[in-house]
Amino acid sequence: MKKALGIATPLRQAEQTLLILRRLRLVDRGLEFGRNENEVFIPLSTGASDEDIEKIKERCPDVRIQEANFVELKTRPRNLLESVRGKIPEPLLSSIPRSCDIIGDIGIIELPEDLIQFSSIIGRGVLEVNPSLRLVLRKSSEVTGTFRTRKYETIAGSGNTETFYREYSCVFHLDIAKVYFNPRLSHERMRVAGQAKPHETVVDMFAGVGPYSILIAKTQPTSRVTAIDINPEAFRYLKENILTNGVADRVVPILDDARQVTSLMLQGTASRVIMNLPSEATSFLEAAIQTIKRDGGIIHYYTFASRSDDLTTIEESVRAIIESVGRDIHSVPFRKIIREVAPNRVQVAVDVHLK
Ligand SMILES: C[S@@+](CC[C@H](N)C(=O)[O-])C[C@H]1O[C@@H](n2cnc3c(N)ncnc32)[C@H](O)[C@@H]1O
Repeated sequence: MKKALGIATPLRQAEQTLLILRRLRLVDRGLEFGRNENEVFIPLSTGASDEDIEKIKERCPDVRIQEANFVELKTRPRNLLESVRGKIPEPLLSSIPRSCDIIGDIGIIELPEDLIQFSSIIGRGVLEVNPSLRLVLRKSSEVTGTFRTRKYETIAGSGNTETFYREYSCVFHLDIAKVYFNPRLSHERMRVAGQAKPHETVVDMFAGVGPYSILIAKTQPTSRVTAIDINPEAFRYLKENILTNGVADRVVPILDDARQVTSLMLQGTASRVIMNLPSEATSFLEAAIQTIKRDGGIIHYYTFASRSDDLTTIEESVRAIIESVGRDIHSVPFRKIIREVAPNRVQVAVDVHLK
């Protein structure tokens, strides 16, 4: 409770009084209104001057101005730093991450070594700042293996690692501990989907739970997409997401190795190939080239690089592989760093238009 100056207004005039006080910006928003059978008590902001009080008396003659006890409203901290200040040693505050990834009702944070002992305080802070979250996870390993998954530790909240994530007009069901998913790629996915032309045939070689495939099929309703992934868990969600997003007539999911599928079934069929497996980009590039139609198409190629690497050098190495298999390049309309993966490590996107 907090003692503060307030306005006691008869119930029947409460709405009118509140309107006047709000217009004068004199209501203390950190305190809860009180009431009894006959009156409502509105807390006055501490900045109210004698002149303000005179104005109130003038405009609301039936009110009383008196001190009262008000319940203090809990104000939510605006960010994680504000939430943990005073709960962890001051010198560590500068290491508090400025952002956390949000996937549906799960928050995911990366903590430097010296903050790990304060994980649960930080996790509770994330929940406090983002009340819609149910669970907070800490990244506890790198992304590894063929399925490109990572390990997580629960640091606050409860429940499992399965969630629904909304992006543009799509919804994706996924289990972040069993499949790859990265909300930071949403702009890149939209950039690619925005390029799709009517009646395109797209091959998404490493589709995961379907964020590229489904967005393209929704953005360009006459397109046809083959979505391949080798992870059975990702494939299970991919199939479900295709159905729930209403694109089952346009997206064909395949559980298998992309190299096998493209060489056996899809040679020369695609006007667009998406290769979001940056860790193994070069080794799959030849399969992607074979998948592009004889009259040309676009490969969306992704790779990892050092921040200092020259984009021209990266483009040249892609060109060299393509030319080594006897395919001509029309142009390279786009190349850009699209996100930071780790300190000094970035993901690069290169669009190559083949003749
Ligand atoms: C970096 S993730 C990208 C997933 C998805 N495109 C996305 O943006 O969320 C790469 C995906 O490739 C799959 N993968 C790895 N090797 C594969 C292969 N040889 N054939 C098909 N899929 C593969 C993994 O299971 C993983 O889901």
